[in-house]
Order: sequence, then C-alpha cells, then structure tokens
Amino acid sequence: MSDTKGRTMYVILLGPPGAGKGTQAVQTAERTGLLHLSTGDMFRENLRNGTELGNLAKTYMDAGELVPDDVTIGMLLERIGRDDARAGCLFDGFPRTVEQARALDEALTAQGQEIAVTVLIDVSNEEITRRLGGRVSCATCGSVFHQVFNPPDASKPCCDVIKLIQRDDDKPEAIANRLQVYADQTEPLVAYYTAADKLSTVNGEQSPEAVGQDLLSALEAVSN
Ligand code: AP5
Repeated sequence: MSDTKGRTMYVILLGPPGAGKGTQAVQTAERTGLLHLSTGDMFRENLRNGTELGNLAKTYMDAGELVPDDVTIGMLLERIGRDDARAGCLFDGFPRTVEQARALDEALTAQGQEIAVTVLIDVSNEEITRRLGGRVSCATCGSVFHQVFNPPDASKPCCDVIKLIQRDDDKPEAIANRLQVYADQTEPLVAYYTAADKLSTVNGEQSPEAVGQDLLSALEAVSN
C-alpha cells in the first residue's frame, strides 16, 4: 500500500489502552502488507527473553507508567531502520508522547518519508475498563482474546500450546493509572496530528469487524 504521492505508507494507530489497537493492527497488517510494530509487544518480548531492556521496561509497565522516551525512541528508530520496515509500517502504541512524535517525524523526514495518517480509535473509559478487565492472551503465541466479547474458539486454536494469561498491567490499579497517563501524556497527540492535518477518527465501540472496515476506509482515503 502506498500514499497519494506513491510513497511507502507509515500509519499510526492512536487510542487509549484497550481501545483495540492491537486487535485491529494484526488484521490491518494482514490486509495491507504494512509491518505491524507494537512497542508494547517489543517490550514484552524483551521481558520474555530476559534482556536488560525488558527488565527496565517491566518496572514502568507493571505500574502503568510510560517507559522513558529516550529508551522507547531508541528502540523504535532502530527497528524502523531495518530492511523489512521499508515496505511501510503500522505503528501500534507509538508515539505516546509529543517528544516521541517529533522524533518519528524527524526520522521519517530524513528518509524522504512522512506519516500518511494517524487513526484515532475512539472508546470511552467505561468501555475500556470492561475490555481490559476481561482481556486474556496466549503466553505462547501472543494472540489476544476477551473472556466475554471475543472468547477463544475451541474449533480454531491459536497455536499448539495454548496458555491463556492476564497481563500484569490489566489489574484494576494499573488500568486506572494507564488511563490517567493516556490523558496527560498521549491525548495531546490528537491536537498534534490535527494541526498537521493527519488525524482521522473511527468509532471504536462497534464490532471488531466494523471498526476494521472504518479503519481500512481511512487508509484508503490517503492511499492511491
Ligand atoms: P501496550 O501494549 O501498547 O498497551 P496499551 O496501549 O495500553 O494498549 P493495550 O495493548 O492495552 O490495548 P489495545 O488498544 O491494543 O487493545 P486490544 O486490541 O488488546 O503498552 C503496554 C505498556 O508498555 C505501556 O503501559 C507502557 O508502560 C509501555 N509502552 C508501550 N509503548 C510505549 C511507548 N510508546 N512509550 C512509552 N511506554 C510504552 O483490545 C483490548 C481488549 O478488548 C481485548 O480483550 C480485545 O479482545 C477486546 N476488544 C478489542 N476490540 C474490541 C471491540 N471492537 N469490541 C469488543 N472488544 C474488543
């Protein structure tokens, strides 16, 4: 998929914790061929591998705080410099601060690229609390489910060794803090991308299929 100027597409999925960014990113990456890059998944992978970065990130993640900008920006910029990112990226959970957004803009500008569109998945705090409280994911393959809204399908197992777990940051105290952190540090990005005329908003309180269709329409509006 390329933008209206024929360039590689870089797309941001923005939204509060639990808005459905990861759920939508997996499906949209499959449909568009864009590389799905989730900074949360990168930190969790580092944690599983016992790296220094993973252990550092865990202290912030468990409390629902953001990992410091210098660490997160360094990790993301290294990742988008690799060959497989040259076909375009779908950013999930990055940027989360204005400083991160500026660093991404500078890195893309240096490559003659820019963000094509930022899609805000709009969901109320009440709905988010319901979603995160019921979220489970498979520790083996990372597939994400919801105990009520999106339960695992026994006839279509996600992998050979299904092991469903709840994330440590989906405990009630961490959820409340993540929502506050989003309001304080990430919501200013709505104004940032609106000022750049790069914001599109979809209603996240529909079925995952309907949200996915609206998201695809937003990408088609800026692609050729
Ligand atoms: P991260 O992993 O990015 O978490 P998040 O942004 O808080 O987002 P979530 O993964 O919680 O939710 P989501 O929007 O992907 O929703 P999902 O699809 O899972 O970050 C975790 C931590 O890492 C951060 O707190 C921070 O510490 C650190 N971090 C990461 N990036 C960072 C950065 N850039 N800077 C600094 N620190 C960073 O869906 C949620 C649930 O709802 C699921 O159960 C799903 O099945 C269900 N669901 C999805 N869509 C629907 C629907 N339409 N209807 C009903 N249910 C639905």
